[in-house]
Amino acid sequence: LAVRGALFHCPVKGDFEHHEDALVLVGADGQIESVLTQADPEFAALSDTLAAAGKLTQLAPGQYLMPGMVDLHVHAPQWPQAGKGLDLPLYDWLQDYTFPLEARFEDESFARSVYPHLVNALLANGTTSAVYFATVHNPASVALAEICLEQGQRGYVGKVNMDDPSQCPPYYIETTEQGLADTEAFIQQVRALPGNEQGLVNPVITPRFVPSCTADMLKGLGKLAQRYHCHVQTHCSESDWARDYSQEHYGQTDVAIYRDMGLLTSRTILAHSIFLTDEDMAAIRDANAAIAHCPLSNMYFANAAMKTREVLDRDLQVGLGTDLAGAPIPSVFHTCLDAVNHSRVREDGTDTHRPAGERGEAGSRVSFLEAYWMATVGGGLAIDARVGLFAPGYAFDALVVDANAPDSDLYLPEGMDSPRDLLEKLICLTRRANIRTVWVQGRQVINK
Ligand code: GUN
Ligand code: FE
Repeated sequence: LAVRGALFHCPVKGDFEHHEDALVLVGADGQIESVLTQADPEFAALSDTLAAAGKLTQLAPGQYLMPGMVDLHVHAPQWPQAGKGLDLPLYDWLQDYTFPLEARFEDESFARSVYPHLVNALLANGTTSAVYFATVHNPASVALAEICLEQGQRGYVGKVNMDDPSQCPPYYIETTEQGLADTEAFIQQVRALPGNEQGLVNPVITPRFVPSCTADMLKGLGKLAQRYHCHVQTHCSESDWARDYSQEHYGQTDVAIYRDMGLLTSRTILAHSIFLTDEDMAAIRDANAAIAHCPLSNMYFANAAMKTREVLDRDLQVGLGTDLAGAPIPSVFHTCLDAVNHSRVREDGTDTHRPAGERGEAGSRVSFLEAYWMATVGGGLAIDARVGLFAPGYAFDALVVDANAPDSDLYLPEGMDSPRDLLEKLICLTRRANIRTVWVQGRQVINK
């Protein structure tokens, strides 16, 4: 496979690279072999040879090759719930909408009716890697991993753990013992799936959040994480209610609890992480764990603003999550915009000539390029996959944005946009309609 055309990516946080005409060569294993530009002496001859052999995908004017998006936090079973009940506080939303819906995934055939639609919607929106919460049920959770494999999405799938009867409803709960046994079986089943030899799908240890799990469950899962060198995901300090729950029951922050239970590792993804102390940030950094920033969901449920600026400035690993269905939109392009907007609402007025400290936090804004870096490179670092930019040795997880697609909102008149303007417009205005082609590990998974 070889693709030639205009290319954008953001290898360095806060900066970008643009080539008007690049040639990306991809090996049979789906890894990028080389990225050539017109400055390379062999560019023209190689490109001609590939075209003559029918092996070149040539992009048209108005089309841009960009890295695939990484969604670090998706609740797959909540897809039918997207857009419902978002006026409610988190606790009520979980009890009234989420738990009754998730309980239905005990029926594997129900899962098989929902999950293919979601995985396809995410791929069509450019999400080449997704980190999923499934439900407590093993068969339905394995089914999600199989569906990712079939559709060709890089999937990180968690069978959810929740065993605390004081917080989980009687119809949606597991025992500690059964939950730990099921999790171990799930890890083995996903790793052994036929067609998963390259590790395209991976099991993730998934304690839902502190309130839903007993201390024994957290400890047991910590041991499994060490034994299987497995990814871990959970909700961390997501709302004022969740933060207060941890203080009342453990006298600690969520980060400290997860650390003490063996769940804060270099393969851990902490969704949200709103109320972080300085010690929490240091602990996350020491562990080389990652944060999934979910800006739109935070605006509904957190009752506080995310300290994204501080997290970026301290070089913590951080990427973006849609948090479907705590936010209703299945697009990481949209999440980039949400991350910028979230930071602007938090910011004070110093840039607009208002006295510092009059409201909000000084200097807390996040740029469009930083948001896009989180959506690509930051996400790739969080999942320990070589994805998110174009370089030899990285997987070819990529998409083509077409400004001239039917029903496009992108308007890019000739000669009016600098490369930076162009990229910012692509980040803001790329919609599903614009995403023509998507590849994961070199395999074309969307083409329209
Ligand atoms: N905290 C615990 N469970 C959930 C969930 O399903 N969604 C969100 N947004 N937060 C949670
Ligand atoms: Fe969530």
